[in-house]
Amino acid sequence: MATHLAAVATGKDQPFEIQDRQTRMPGPGELLIGVKSIALNSIDYKCRDTGFAVASFPAVMGSDVGGVVLKAGTNVPSTFKPGTRVSAFAPAFFQRCAPDYGAFQQKVIIPARNVTPIPDTISFNEAATMPMAVVTTWSGWWTIGLPRNTAFSPSDKQGMLVWGGSSSVGSMVVQSAKLLGFTVYATASAKNHEYVKSLGADRVFDHKDPSVEQSMIDAAKGDGLTFQYGYDAVGALQSCQNILKELKGSGPAHLASATPLMPGSPTTDGIDTKFVVASLEEEEQAEQFSFWMNVWLKEKLEKNEIVPSPKIQVVEGGLHGINKGLAILKAGVSCTKLVIEI
Ligand SMILES: NC(=O)c1ccc[n+]([C@@H]2O[C@H](COP(=O)([O-])OP(=O)(O)OC[C@H]3O[C@@H](n4cnc5c(N)ncnc54)[C@H](OP(=O)(O)O)[C@@H]3O)[C@@H](O)[C@H]2O)c1
Repeated sequence: MATHLAAVATGKDQPFEIQDRQTRMPGPGELLIGVKSIALNSIDYKCRDTGFAVASFPAVMGSDVGGVVLKAGTNVPSTFKPGTRVSAFAPAFFQRCAPDYGAFQQKVIIPARNVTPIPDTISFNEAATMPMAVVTTWSGWWTIGLPRNTAFSPSDKQGMLVWGGSSSVGSMVVQSAKLLGFTVYATASAKNHEYVKSLGADRVFDHKDPSVEQSMIDAAKGDGLTFQYGYDAVGALQSCQNILKELKGSGPAHLASATPLMPGSPTTDGIDTKFVVASLEEEEQAEQFSFWMNVWLKEKLEKNEIVPSPKIQVVEGGLHGINKGLAILKAGVSCTKLVIEI
């Protein structure tokens, strides 16, 4: 039986240990992917440290993969031949960290619907930066009822508020919102403004400026924009609600929150605030992932309409570097996606 190395969570709040695991062959609709790059996300250390979304230990975490198809199961589209270079969302969270499905290993099982073939111009490191951000962006649009086929033009004067435009999620939200035709207002630290503009934001505001809310409101009024939608990528609900309340048209405004809503989280009349999550209904979720990864991301990369974001920082050490990488992530990053090379 073939084996491969994995960074295994052996128990709650334990550092990952590098262990040999048996390599399972892909079932119907699944791919076995040879992992070349892994990007790190905060859910990875939340699962490791607290046991959140872990059915039992040993467990393997991790979502973001750049790699190569090694073997396709039955009922997999012919696009995914062995050797195909891909960007893939490993379903660790949705499989409650069952070891075959986490990204933190040399070989991982991933449903074909979670996988995008990548052009030769996209590196494995770049491929790894995108899946979680794309899935979270589109989960947000679905959560707040924004139709997939939204296609505004600048003359429609429809604004999109993106709080945290230099974050991993926010940087993809900016790109997606621009493609849907919104005039995009984002926040980021001043040093990241040019970068967030390069992704398509029309205006970028410094979230550290005490008058940031009023500056955004004044600019939007000057630009004649209505903001019916917003996406809070980093946890600034009160500011987002204050701005949307001033700038919405008739009817409620809709705010997607990537961070969980807690008892006591801010609420504001006229602003419908929802936590971002993919459909939990199996068939609908399968269709969503297929559209987001097999269709949308593939097309946008082929047409060069989105770029991997934000900037990449490689953490040395391969699988051994994951604990260190998660410590860096926990301490806070700015406009940076941490990537492990396998
Ligand atoms: N609901 C879901 O399905 C889901 C999925 C993925 C992630 N998430 C959550 O989404 C959040 C973002 O994740 P991520 O990986 O995108 O984060 P990240 O890349 O680690 O976020 C770092 C960025 O956050 C920005 N930031 C921090 N505080 C800010 C503030 N008060 N206002 C504006 N920007 C601020 C920083 O901007 P500057 O450096 O420019 O200041 C920095 O660039 C996390 O809480 C994560 O747990 C949720």
